[in-house]
Amino acid sequence: MKITITKTEQEFDQVAAWRIISQLLARPAAVIGLSTGQTTIGMHRVVSEIHARYPFDVSQVTFFNVDELTNLPRSYAGSCYTMIYRQLVGPLGVPEENFIMPPTLSDDFVAEAALFERRLAERGGADLQMLGIGMNGHIGINQPGTPFGSDTWVSPMDPDFEARVRRETQVPDDVVLGGLTRGIKNIMQTRKIVLVAKGAHKAEIVEKAILGPVTMDIPASVIQLHPECEVLLDAAAASPDVVKAAGPSVAKVAKR
Ligand code: GLP
Repeated sequence: MKITITKTEQEFDQVAAWRIISQLLARPAAVIGLSTGQTTIGMHRVVSEIHARYPFDVSQVTFFNVDELTNLPRSYAGSCYTMIYRQLVGPLGVPEENFIMPPTLSDDFVAEAALFERRLAERGGADLQMLGIGMNGHIGINQPGTPFGSDTWVSPMDPDFEARVRRETQVPDDVVLGGLTRGIKNIMQTRKIVLVAKGAHKAEIVEKAILGPVTMDIPASVIQLHPECEVLLDAAAASPDVVKAAGPSVAKVAKR
């Protein structure tokens, strides 16, 4: 596992943006998985800015998000579809048929989960997953305790996040909210994973996930088993032990 630590948040956004762009330049028909949340807003903005100044071909790329909320309208500003559309797909002008997402509303999410995977498989499977990490170590919406062999499914949300979504959407209490998320198995089948985290609040969970034991209690710890995995952090998210484990890659980035 390669660990890259950037000096600042701005540098983090730039390095992360270049991970996406490099994949796109290396393979214009790449299938790229994204994550929503505070961590990725900046990198998506930088990708859009670079594209606006130096347009690169996005006509063949496939984008998808690792997860999507269920049982609320897709037009909700916090739906993954809307967030990624506004942050990246829209600004880049990626053809809508190349933005693969499950619906937020359905009578049969089991079928939707299978269809989502089928559509990604038809395009050759995911090349790259930019993967966020939750404060409890979740990846996608796979909460602690999720079996590593899990297939794309509807998972409960963590309670704080669910409370926020309920406040913002006024979804009635009797409607069950959840998240359709790629399973841990599917995430691990991605050819390359870049786990991204920034901010001091993430330092403890990042350290546990990448230096601690591989355990279902911390879903993100599974990435230690991935052969092509990079952990990209800003300085605030890197604990002293993580800095030590990163070794010379710290200096390489800091010297830029
Ligand atoms: C949510 C998303 C995850 C994301 C995580 C981290 O749970 N479903 O995919 O990785 O939040 O979010 P943030 O970057 O805001 O900390």
